[in-house]
Amino acid sequence: MPTLNIIGAGRLGKTLARLWQRQGIFQIGAVCNRSLESAVSACRFIGAGTPCPSVETMADADCWLIASGDGQIAAIATQLAPRLSNSTMVFHCSGALSSSTLSPCKPAAVASAHPVHSFADPERSVATLAGSCVALEGDQRAIEHLSKAFSAIGCTPLTITPEHKVLYHAGSVFACNYLTALMELSLRAFSAAGIDRQQALKLLKPIVLQTAENNMHLGPEKSLTGPIARGDAETVAAQLSSLQSTDTQLANCYRQLGQVCVELARRCQLPEETAARLTEVLREPSEKI
Ligand SMILES: NC(=O)c1ccc[n+]([C@@H]2O[C@H](COP(=O)([O-])OP(=O)(O)OC[C@H]3O[C@@H](n4cnc5c(N)ncnc54)[C@H](OP(=O)(O)O)[C@@H]3O)[C@@H](O)[C@H]2O)c1
Repeated sequence: MPTLNIIGAGRLGKTLARLWQRQGIFQIGAVCNRSLESAVSACRFIGAGTPCPSVETMADADCWLIASGDGQIAAIATQLAPRLSNSTMVFHCSGALSSSTLSPCKPAAVASAHPVHSFADPERSVATLAGSCVALEGDQRAIEHLSKAFSAIGCTPLTITPEHKVLYHAGSVFACNYLTALMELSLRAFSAAGIDRQQALKLLKPIVLQTAENNMHLGPEKSLTGPIARGDAETVAAQLSSLQSTDTQLANCYRQLGQVCVELARRCQLPEETAARLTEVLREPSEKI
């Protein structure tokens, strides 16, 4: 079984390590975190591994995972580089950075492997990671190896090119992080209408979950409902005016996202004339013809 050393066994690192160790995919070797105490605790969670106080004190391994924060990956790669041979493999799991961050580690095979999963709670992630996709890019040998390693713990590999890594990551940011931003905007509008956050969350839960389900099954075009899908420009104008006098940021976001809804509704046979009227209503006051 190949050995895997980990630099940065935090939420993601210790989750993957425990799953790979359990499945017999990698033998977890040395583990180094910022503090030794944290490395000891990570090894306890993984159920294997040797905690090390520094990268220099880590024994050699077939494969290295750098799972520190994104900002530390380049410096750790440079620190690691002199001890690597062309038979070793190094990867990181950042969604934003490509494998080129690891180029100081060459001639070792380098890759990035981004699991599309939120590792908020490692204990939960161990139980729920299977079924997630993992986006891979980098050297062929590393991609082949990681493809097998992630498949063995229930993840579906997909390969992307390094040039597209940033756009790919922006795609996840829209759907995950910005969904959270949308929830916040929604709660602010409810709050302005006299409905407190707890009550609003209760009210939203079924409809938000149902909308997410609809999108997964039907796609965005067929999931769009509401005033824009119905071509109801009067309601849109009334909501916008109300938002404008309550909270300018809410009104601005409503305008921008509304334009995307008009595009979707147009693809679902909204008459051109109605779409044009909605677009005009949603335009910034300064842009109005
Ligand atoms: N969390 C997610 O949902 C998620 C999802 C996909 C991809 N990722 C990617 O996974 C990577 C790790 O994210 P994470 O959320 O697991 O981070 P995290 O929970 O903050 O863990 C980072 C770990 O790195 C250690 N570390 C930081 N600097 C170090 C250094 N110079 N030397 C050695 N260890 C160092 C920290 O040690 P201490 O414990 O001692 O502070 C900590 O254990 C990132 O590249 C991130 O983009 C995360």
